[in-house]
Amino acid sequence: MNRRTFLKTTTAATLGTIAASNFSFAADAEIELTLGEPGAVISPHIYGHFIEHLGGVIYDGVWVGRNSKISNIDGIRKQFVDDMKRIGAPNLRWPGGCFADGYHWRDGIGKSRPRTYNFWQSRMPKGTDATEPNQFGIHEFMNLCRLIGAEPYVAANVGSSTPQEFHDWVSYCNAPAGTLSLADERAANGDKQPFNVRYWGVGNESWGCGGTMRPQEYATLYRKWTTQFPAYVQPFLVATGPRGHSADGDIGWTTGFFENMRGYQPPDGFSVHYYTDLRPTQIKAADFNAAEWYEVLLRGIRLEKVLQDHWNEIGKFDPAHRTKFVVDEWGVWYKPGEELQPSYILSEPITLRDAIHTGLTFDIFNRHAEKIAMANVAQTVNCIHSLFLAQGDKFVRTPAYYVFEMYRAHMGAKQVPVENPAKDLKVTALGGPAALPGLSASASIRESKLTVTITNPSLDASVPVRVRLANGANAREAKGVVLTHQDMRATNTFTKPDEVKPTPYPVKIEGNALALTMPKQSVGLIQCEIG
Ligand code: AHR
Repeated sequence: MNRRTFLKTTTAATLGTIAASNFSFAADAEIELTLGEPGAVISPHIYGHFIEHLGGVIYDGVWVGRNSKISNIDGIRKQFVDDMKRIGAPNLRWPGGCFADGYHWRDGIGKSRPRTYNFWQSRMPKGTDATEPNQFGIHEFMNLCRLIGAEPYVAANVGSSTPQEFHDWVSYCNAPAGTLSLADERAANGDKQPFNVRYWGVGNESWGCGGTMRPQEYATLYRKWTTQFPAYVQPFLVATGPRGHSADGDIGWTTGFFENMRGYQPPDGFSVHYYTDLRPTQIKAADFNAAEWYEVLLRGIRLEKVLQDHWNEIGKFDPAHRTKFVVDEWGVWYKPGEELQPSYILSEPITLRDAIHTGLTFDIFNRHAEKIAMANVAQTVNCIHSLFLAQGDKFVRTPAYYVFEMYRAHMGAKQVPVENPAKDLKVTALGGPAALPGLSASASIRESKLTVTITNPSLDASVPVRVRLANGANAREAKGVVLTHQDMRATNTFTKPDEVKPTPYPVKIEGNALALTMPKQSVGLIQCEIG
């Protein structure tokens, strides 16, 4: 990271202007941006998605069926498609998650589809018919990706399958029409043109639901699964990585895997799962106090250290860093009890707190763009950290959705380095006093358009911010948007869908700086032209 750029706090000078409270104190902030030397391109895939055959995610969330009264395109919920297009969803990971390592792709093709066991069946409420109907298979998934304009990212079965089954699936997807019998079969099932799936996950959580393996065991299987990979298109192969939210960050997995890959072709991507995992706590999704607000955010930003630690570890084996991170599951995961309906397991209400967490997470991703090839929120609809909740003909965008919409401008732009202040905000979290960066920020530039995103996690204090452009660069046509609400627990519901949504926000141009006041508990987007 470029040390010449920084986010500087000027605490003493502004003490009088800021409301102090029991929980926090924040100072004015100055963000200095040096535009002449932009950093890495922020992969659009960082703003990616994940949908799994789990609870109400696929069936109802995405797939309503061709004969449904709910507005649909070939059985796919139309509103889901429209809103995913609106945020430019760059990719979709499917079919799991844990489901992937029990999934056999042939069950999901052709006219007659079997009912099969679903990994999540045992977690479903008693009396629920939780078998997998296989109505949504690879053709339906590819149709969804085409409708959205998203790149497919398919997680293959390593836990209960064979390399042959994997390779046949790849050939079924990617072999040109008229070549293999598998390509003819695909054509007979409605898709003459190859799917050209590039992103393949080689298993999922192989240390857990994907096979409870040791890293050396998984490394052996990874090599078996990929050595004879039918490369009709240049693949991007993703190996199972650590459970980043483990107490120790799970560095041992990364060390073990790369040690056992010495001398072999390294993967293109290394999966990291990072959940802000509140399941062992009493913290609720919808109703919480200030300490619980800060606890969630503090646990969320640990992600930055986890990424840095694993990056350093991988560097011992791969100093050129050929392998990039694929953070293919991230989100705030609350304990069960607040589901949309009991059978929509893992679904939870999403509040302003989760939107703030989303802003903090995206700023981390943007600031580490050179390390990250892709990230996928878990999961897009009716699940953990969802952008949408859907139930029959009801559908609502959560506050997290709007953060995706606001950060869209960073996709594919060049990172402008920004450094967070170290210990600005003194907060009280569950474990007592703690420090949280007073503001989080990231910035990018695309041609002459500068985008700066800022999150103010404070429940008490608005923060006057100056974004200063170094080396005499000038700004014009500055625009701002802010997502906030007076109530920290604010959310969008089927009956009040527009409670939390972004609104235009004033940004002044003062010489070579942009000035605004970030309201408490808010995510902000500033855009301007550089003259
Ligand atoms: O996203 C829910 C589950 O969390 C996924 O299936 C699994 O990979 C992870 O443990």
